[in-house]
Amino acid sequence: MNLTIIQLGIMHLNDCMDLDQKSLNGIWTKSQWEIELTDSKRICLGVIEFETKKLLGLCSAWLVIDELHITFIAVDPMNQRKGLGKFLLSALIKRSKSLQTNHIHLEVKDNNEPAKAFYESMGFKMVGNRSNFYKDGRDALILKKEINIKS
Ligand SMILES: CC(C)(COP(=O)(O)OP(=O)(O)OC[C@H]1O[C@@H](n2cnc3c(N)ncnc32)[C@H](O)[C@@H]1OP(=O)(O)O)[C@@H](O)C(=O)NCCC(=O)NCCS
Repeated sequence: MNLTIIQLGIMHLNDCMDLDQKSLNGIWTKSQWEIELTDSKRICLGVIEFETKKLLGLCSAWLVIDELHITFIAVDPMNQRKGLGKFLLSALIKRSKSLQTNHIHLEVKDNNEPAKAFYESMGFKMVGNRSNFYKDGRDALILKKEINIKS
């Protein structure tokens, strides 16, 4: 598979909503996606299959001073566990370094075992939790990764 990372914009709205639906049952509305894809403080990266131009994964993050907050990451269910999540997150970390970001943080649902294993494999550590964070009453774990700008 030939893959390429691109910066996503409003022209990818339908593809993002489609991937959100397939991978997370649609956590964001159309207007939330519109903001995510147009706000200059957000970085939204996609992994595209070069030949078909299909969006196979995306991650989105919000830059707040020297900190990047990951708001969304998902890989197409048919293409999970092929290294695409790692490819995307590594591209985001590389981008973070160029933005002089010192750390990345995110929330993950406490029972999302694949995502927890994925973040652990990418060097994230648990630094706290938020009770009752999700609509279904589940807690969120707060994970953080320090970015060493020199490495
Ligand atoms: C979390 C997610 C983005 C990971 O993407 P992915 O492309 O499948 O992950 P990768 O193939 O890059 O995996 C990298 C490493 O993470 C770990 N990992 C990933 N998925 C895993 C799983 N289901 N079980 C155990 N470990 C897993 C492994 O260590 C893996 O390395 P390995 O395959 O060499 O063992 C993907 O599972 C996903 O889209 N899930 C649904 C959406 C979601 O829950 N997003 C997170 C919301 S906070």
